Amino acid sequence: MARPGFIALLVGASLALLVVLQLFANAGLHETSSRFDFHPLRETRAGTDDDNVFLLGVGKADITGPVVEVGLNGYADLSQVGTGLRQRIFSRAFIIADPDDTDNTIVYLIVDAQSGDTAVRHGVLQGLAALGGEYARYGEHNIALSGTHAHSGPGAWMNYLLPQIPTKGFDKQSYQALVDGVLLSIKRAHESLTPGRLTHGTTEITDGNANRSPYSYLANPEEERNQYQYNTDKTMTMLRFDRTSDSKTTAVLTFFSVHGTSLYENNTLTAGDNKGVAAWLYERSVANDTRFADDFVAGFSQSSVGDTTPNVLGAYCEDTGLPCRFEDSTCNGKTELCRGRGPYFQENDYGAKSCFEMGRRQYSAAKDLYEQLDSKGTQIVGSSSVASYHVYHDFTNYTFPSPFNSSTLKTCYAALGFNFAAGTTDGPGQFDFTQNSTGPAEENPLWYVARAFIHQPSAEQQACQAPKEILLDAGAVTLPYAWAPNIVDIQGFRVGQLLFIISPSEVTTMSGRRWKSAILNASTEVLGIEDPLVVLGSPANTYAHYLTTEEEYGVQRYEGASTLYGPSELAGYVNLTLTYLPYLGSSSDVSKLAPIPAGPNPPINTNNSLSFITGVVYDGAASDQSFGDVLSTSPNVTYGRGDTIDATFVGANPRNNLHQESTFAAVEFLDTSSGSWKTVRTDADWNLIYMWNRTNTVLGYSNATIAWQIEDDYYEIGNPNPVQSGSYRLHYYGDSKSVGGDITSFEGVTGAFTVSV
Ligand SMILES: *[C@@H]1O[C@H](CO)[C@@H](O)[C@H](O)[C@H]1NC(C)=O
Ligand SMILES: *[C@@H]1O[C@H](CO)[C@@H](O)[C@H](O)[C@H]1NC(C)=O
Ligand SMILES: *[C@@H]1O[C@H](CO)[C@@H](O)[C@H](O)[C@H]1NC(C)=O
Ligand SMILES: *[C@@H]1O[C@H](CO)[C@@H](O)[C@H](O)[C@H]1NC(C)=O
Ligand SMILES: *[C@@H]1O[C@H](CO)[C@@H](O)[C@H](O)[C@H]1NC(C)=O
Ligand SMILES: *[C@@H]1O[C@H](CO)[C@@H](O)[C@H](O)[C@H]1NC(C)=O
Ligand SMILES: *[C@@H]1O[C@H](CO)[C@@H](O)[C@H](O)[C@H]1NC(C)=O
Ligand SMILES: *[C@@H]1O[C@H](CO)[C@@H](O)[C@H](O)[C@H]1NC(C)=O
Ligand SMILES: *[C@@H]1O[C@H](CO)[C@@H](O)[C@H](O)[C@H]1NC(C)=O
Ligand SMILES: *[C@@H]1O[C@H](CO)[C@@H](O)[C@H](O)[C@H]1NC(C)=O
Ligand SMILES: *[C@@H]1O[C@H](CO)[C@@H](O)[C@H](O)[C@H]1NC(C)=O
Repeated sequence: MARPGFIALLVGASLALLVVLQLFANAGLHETSSRFDFHPLRETRAGTDDDNVFLLGVGKADITGPVVEVGLNGYADLSQVGTGLRQRIFSRAFIIADPDDTDNTIVYLIVDAQSGDTAVRHGVLQGLAALGGEYARYGEHNIALSGTHAHSGPGAWMNYLLPQIPTKGFDKQSYQALVDGVLLSIKRAHESLTPGRLTHGTTEITDGNANRSPYSYLANPEEERNQYQYNTDKTMTMLRFDRTSDSKTTAVLTFFSVHGTSLYENNTLTAGDNKGVAAWLYERSVANDTRFADDFVAGFSQSSVGDTTPNVLGAYCEDTGLPCRFEDSTCNGKTELCRGRGPYFQENDYGAKSCFEMGRRQYSAAKDLYEQLDSKGTQIVGSSSVASYHVYHDFTNYTFPSPFNSSTLKTCYAALGFNFAAGTTDGPGQFDFTQNSTGPAEENPLWYVARAFIHQPSAEQQACQAPKEILLDAGAVTLPYAWAPNIVDIQGFRVGQLLFIISPSEVTTMSGRRWKSAILNASTEVLGIEDPLVVLGSPANTYAHYLTTEEEYGVQRYEGASTLYGPSELAGYVNLTLTYLPYLGSSSDVSKLAPIPAGPNPPINTNNSLSFITGVVYDGAASDQSFGDVLSTSPNVTYGRGDTIDATFVGANPRNNLHQESTFAAVEFLDTSSGSWKTVRTDADWNLIYMWNRTNTVLGYSNATIAWQIEDDYYEIGNPNPVQSGSYRLHYYGDSKSVGGDITSFEGVTGAFTVSV
């Protein structure tokens, strides 16, 4: 989450909660806390004499939920409500198994969404359990659900109350869209399991990210900072999946740290932000490359994302054009006007071109890295060393020895500091808060009222969280259900000499370095790995806000204020992942260990969450019109690259049918040899936009607009099938809801447009 625009509502929300609680009490309730072919499964033991042949599976599926009338997830801005779709969003599943014992399996998932979270993961686990059979091998221990941290997809599927507030609660349709898509991606990956090899390599993307809290970063010891050239992690790591049957590449899985905030807070179209672009560009680019399998999947995972920004040109004051104040990212003492700038910040397009460019940089680096892997890559070896563990751990009052020195440390239950409300330069707060100050709050007693109304932190909690000044003592509030996680997932994977750290929190650059270094150091001694490799994926499994170093925490900018469990959170994560590291050892070593404890179950709020999102009532069309009628189009002239062709149709609410694995919009090309229209763009393409607008609430009228921004050379990068001259038309696929509730599909098609390139 980058900015809590909803804080002003907290007093109101609290009042509403009192009413709700009253109702609960009255009711006598207790307060409790296709490109895809399906192959038959090939699990031959062929080639398993080789210690570097694993069983590999990859799959991709649509997770696009309701793209209108539901708040977007990430900026926590109540006014950022969906109005359409720029690019469909996906779940990508990567399965790696020991060919001799498929119980030793890991599933790494990347969803084009703000994070992996508890409720969705729970739904996925329930779905897998229901499938049974071969799917019984997938469960709590080996499913890692990571999010790209895109801030531009439908929300209202988070498990805890706090991140639900800006999306007006929980929406079953939005939740189910995500769960169904993730399950389908796992199913496809499972059905594609086949022997293959893994190759690891790294490259640097120096212009791929910047640090948005360099003042915090500078709080880390100088001698530690001197070990690194940059104040963000510039490394992209790639894992290449090649099947042995025909040596084709079935997938690349990359890790790179950059926030999914290229699209600004005023964007209301669903998209996968920069990583969604990178994955789509890569998958598009290989269509004619015989080295790649037909159902090739490109995964762009998030990593040490915490203090990174894609707004690499720096943060400036929108009124004066001057840089914001270094210490606290303010302009004239206020945060609202301080904005990070992406490479195309002057475009006035909600950040779209900057988003494409930041995706292109990751795509281009990944393409180059792929070409270097044969000469510079490292084979992953140890097909009998595929292992995982998962435990739930309660961070309330966890006392442990520091992994860094001889002190005893403890964590505290979740709380957010005042500077959480200040937001960041990717999405500044709309209130008076600044990073590294509580001044305005002291001038505005409403904040203290709000705080006390929710929960007054105890002296012990304040001392534990110090120097954080607590704004929301979220972990103490469980009415009507938990506001923030106290119980988080601790999870680790191993594939040969490669270790995966799976973090629920958004890890800052230096936190990630310390954590990875601790795991690397221990893996040699504990697991006997000679040349260990490590990757870190986050935010995953449960969205647990941020993770800073203790020194960065002391500065209490946004990231420190959002570090839920106090100054020793990093030490706690390191202690726990070191404690369970032996469970990534060989099966015979692990069998000598005490069974891993499951830990306390987190609350699952899918069935008891509040929702103030109303459903679709009905759709209507004027008496002289029908659904799908063309209301207006661009002029009927000849178009070229860079031009836009659009059309507005008599529409209906896209929430009636999400068109998962399908499309709301298409660009069709007239094949003159056959005389038939062929789909060349869908709403999964960046340059085809679908927008929807309710024009009359009482009569249920709406307009749907489809706009194709004809690709100029910049947007054609790597495209083996670029635009060609000829006749094109726009095709709209909709579904209307009658007063009686029946849903009927309809289509609309424009006349032909001439394109000359
Ligand atoms: C959206 O927000 C950005 C950042 O504040 C601003 O520069 C831009 O003018 C806004 N509007 C559009 C249409 O991009
Ligand atoms: C934390 O643990 C200590 C020692 O075990 C105990 O004195 C204290 O009351 C606990 N605090 C909370 C908030 O549970
Ligand atoms: C982590 O802390 C626990 C105490 O809470 C301790 O028993 C354990 O040994 C520590 N783990 C490591 C690897 O130091
Ligand atoms: C351990 O390190 C922290 C800084 O991370 C420091 O504040 C503390 O004094 C150190 N404790 C000991 C016992 O060395
Ligand atoms: C890992 O080992 C190196 C070299 O011994 C050491 O400098 C570093 O501090 C260790 N890292 C951690 C987190 O223990
Ligand atoms: C601001 O940062 C300084 C360190 O630079 C720290 O000592 C101070 O406590 C911080 N103040 C607040 C209110 O966060
Ligand atoms: C929610 O309700 C559904 C339908 O009754 C049930 O299948 C599911 O297990 C419930 N989920 C939880 C977390 O209780
Ligand atoms: C949108 O719908 C309204 C009412 O149905 C209609 O009057 C208007 O012309 C439509 N807008 C466009 C751009 O066609
Ligand atoms: C939506 O429709 C209303 C009413 O026709 C109009 O005022 C508004 O400008 C439209 N908004 C968009 C984004 O098309
Ligand atoms: C890629 O393949 C398509 C369809 O087979 C073909 O039309 C196109 O010309 C090819 N592109 C290149 C660059 O070879
Ligand atoms: C443009 O004009 C041609 C020729 O009259 C017609 O066939 C075509 O349908 C028109 N296209 C649109 C979009 O109106």
